[in-house]
Amino acid sequence: MSTWLGVGIGSKNSKGDWLEVYYPRELINPSEEIIVKTKELVNYQEGNLTRPIPQELKDDLSKINQEFFSLNAETCLVVIIDSELPPHDVPGSYLRLHLLSHRLVKPNEINLVGIFNVLPTVAWTSDGPKDPKEFVEILTTKKINNEPIHVFSLDKFPCLTDYVIPEGVRIADSHRVRLGAYLGEGTTVMHEGFINFNAGTLGKSMVEGRISQGVVVDEGSDLGGSSSTMGTLSGGNETLISVGKDCLLGANSGLGIPLGDRCIIEAGLYITAGTKVELIKANNQVEEVKASDLSYKNDLLFIRNSLTGTVQCKENSKTVNLNEELHSNN
Ligand SMILES: CC(C)(COP(=O)(O)OP(=O)(O)OC[C@H]1O[C@@H](n2cnc3c(N)ncnc32)[C@H](O)[C@@H]1OP(=O)(O)O)[C@@H](O)C(=O)NCCC(=O)NCCS
Repeated sequence: MSTWLGVGIGSKNSKGDWLEVYYPRELINPSEEIIVKTKELVNYQEGNLTRPIPQELKDDLSKINQEFFSLNAETCLVVIIDSELPPHDVPGSYLRLHLLSHRLVKPNEINLVGIFNVLPTVAWTSDGPKDPKEFVEILTTKKINNEPIHVFSLDKFPCLTDYVIPEGVRIADSHRVRLGAYLGEGTTVMHEGFINFNAGTLGKSMVEGRISQGVVVDEGSDLGGSSSTMGTLSGGNETLISVGKDCLLGANSGLGIPLGDRCIIEAGLYITAGTKVELIKANNQVEEVKASDLSYKNDLLFIRNSLTGTVQCKENSKTVNLNEELHSNN
């Protein structure tokens, strides 16, 4: 069992249901001493737990973040989760998403089963998070008073940078990266790039394509413009897709198998697990295989032969080098 403790502040709708919770990094597993003391005070035995902050903890915690405790006590809370159990409430779900985005756990290392059913859809507005049903009235009042308001999204997940600023990354359009995304140091996400929760990059990489839920991209890889990685949330099979080190997914390509290191997929070619591939061997002999048979194999080049239309796989002898200038100033 692996437990995590977070002290956070959140917002609720008028019925008192949580909409979202923010956990400052320094109040996630603040110290061994505070963890032990909190567990005693809230009589923690096992599982997931959400409680108002015990009065006895406030002195310890204000030493770490004084400003935090001058805030409305009603919306401050302490949460303990067991990372092996599924999330059971909004505060616990948000702690899990923070753990990923603070690089405290990697994608697929923490249980997120059922998180969609636990998280409410929220109107993420320039006036803060709102319950969509209650927002209609707010919108009317704003219009009557001629006051501006903007709804950035209606979604279960907020954007990463409203909660966590990972070190050493660049994100051209912050709305394309959800809270719960894991961005390794040196990652650049361009405007067309998208990173879902429980997905991301382990180190330096260029993301101009989409990293779906569950997908992990290893260091040195480049996801070309509008390339796509297949997730496991709808359709397809259960195999988690990953990209190895120093790979290139060409522009508009797609990946439906876990890729090894130093592999290239030609621009525009979508490889799914069942794609029939002509594997061209060193002696030019051809073997027909399913793309899934090539999962995790290194040094492959996938092309769609532009004369015959067949998908072919050759040994990749070229090295993919990221453009250093694009990453050195993150
Ligand atoms: C697949 C890819 C990597 C091949 O590039 P390359 O290795 O430089 O290939 P070349 O164009 O030098 O071609 C090598 C040989 O393969 C042949 N070839 C290349 N692509 C082919 C195809 N789709 N079908 C048939 N033959 C092909 C070439 O004609 C050439 O043959 P030759 O040696 O007899 O002249 C490249 O086409 C590609 O798709 N790159 C992706 C770039 C990208 O999208 N980056 C992201 C930007 S956002």
